[in-house]
Amino acid sequence: MKRNILITGGAGFIGSHVVRLFVNKYPDYNIVNLDKLTYAGNLANLKDIEGKPNYTFVRADIADLDEMRRIITTHKIDGIIHLAAESHVDRSIKDPFTFARTNVMGTLALLQAAKEYWEGTPEKYEGKLFYHISTDEVYGALELTNPEGVESPFTTTASSSEHHLAFGTEFFLETTKYAPHSPYSASKASSDHFVRAYHDTYGMPTLVTNCSNNYGPYQFPEKLIPLFINNIRHGKPLPVYGKGENVRDWLFVEDHARAIDLIFHKGKIADTYNIGGFNEWKNIDLIKVIIKTVDRLLGNPEGKSLDLITYVTDRAGHDMRYAIDSRKLQRELGWEPSLQFEEGIEKTVRWYLDNQEWMDNITSGEYEKYYDDMYSNR
Ligand code: NAD
Ligand code: DAU
Repeated sequence: MKRNILITGGAGFIGSHVVRLFVNKYPDYNIVNLDKLTYAGNLANLKDIEGKPNYTFVRADIADLDEMRRIITTHKIDGIIHLAAESHVDRSIKDPFTFARTNVMGTLALLQAAKEYWEGTPEKYEGKLFYHISTDEVYGALELTNPEGVESPFTTTASSSEHHLAFGTEFFLETTKYAPHSPYSASKASSDHFVRAYHDTYGMPTLVTNCSNNYGPYQFPEKLIPLFINNIRHGKPLPVYGKGENVRDWLFVEDHARAIDLIFHKGKIADTYNIGGFNEWKNIDLIKVIIKTVDRLLGNPEGKSLDLITYVTDRAGHDMRYAIDSRKLQRELGWEPSLQFEEGIEKTVRWYLDNQEWMDNITSGEYEKYYDDMYSNR
């Protein structure tokens, strides 16, 4: 079936994997990638598909309502997968207004433009979908009731085989009350509420998914894993926030993209699905896995880069533990990730080491300045 699908934020980390999957898997769909190309947007992430006949790139700001109206109407959009956002917690602490503008007002502008266009078509909302990509951070933080970890009661194929721990008894469910702490998660929570409000008020077909931490190729090197791989390569310090005891639940980005594809096509309208791999890691343990992998692949003696670990002032309001319960998605839509953690990390580290030019293009110039500024008051 022919469809015209708008993917926002497609030049970013997760968005580029979603665009690639849809462009390659659905030659009959027209895929329009809408991205403002902020510091985090990089068209080099999509070099392999940019010439495909079913792919179009449009540079625009989601907060520009008139532009959203024009783009949605011009391309006769019937499905939206909305990933565009400001996504880095540390930046949100420095500059919350940009997060409110893009994540809240931008999402609202996109919703409004879609509403106006869809309500004006003969079939109205029939065959339409506004799919909003959100985060587990909207649920707030879980307690570290098992600081050393106990065998996790749940599993997916993404769970680590050598280390399968839960650091607490609670997990985020789709019914967990929203309790965001950072300006980033507050802005994402607000956008989720607007999406649900457009369903409840105007009958717009919407879907929301909340995913755990993603890792993999093309992630901007302000985030833990690519930042640390790059710093190890250059012998630079690895800034571990606080004691490194915070826990995150890691999922390979292509498995998130596959979940988005499945939910876009089979998800129940107005529903919410949590996406995660039951793959919890304490930051310091994950960092040691990264150090070990990078040192091995670079041919360094084992443990050489452990000395780079540098404990720094903790992130303000640092959420202690995230742990997603994705059993609903497994049960109702049969989702299973394709990569186990060990394979995913190996693939990721290799990718960054093999794509040094991609990394160097980012870490030079403006970005470095911004980053130095961010660290100057630590
Ligand atoms: P990213 O920062 O790598 O990419 C964001 C993209 O959005 C960039 O290409 C940027 O140019 C674009 N963008 C930003 N502001 C824009 C605007 N005003 N108009 C148009 N485009 C704009 O982010 P990511 O890590 O790929 O995250 C994508 C989405 O997934 C976000 O909504 C994020 O909240 C969500 N999410 C991320 C994770 C994760 O672990 N990275 C996990 C769960 C959910
Ligand atoms: O949980 C999903 C979220 O995961 C997404 O919604 C966000 O967009 C994404 O950025 C990510 O948020 P985190 O804050 O968890 O990711 P980050 O890579 O910034 O940090 C991961 C953990 O590592 C966190 O506990 C903070 C810590 N950290 C991070 C950096 C960048 C450090 O200790 N040192 C660092 O230099």
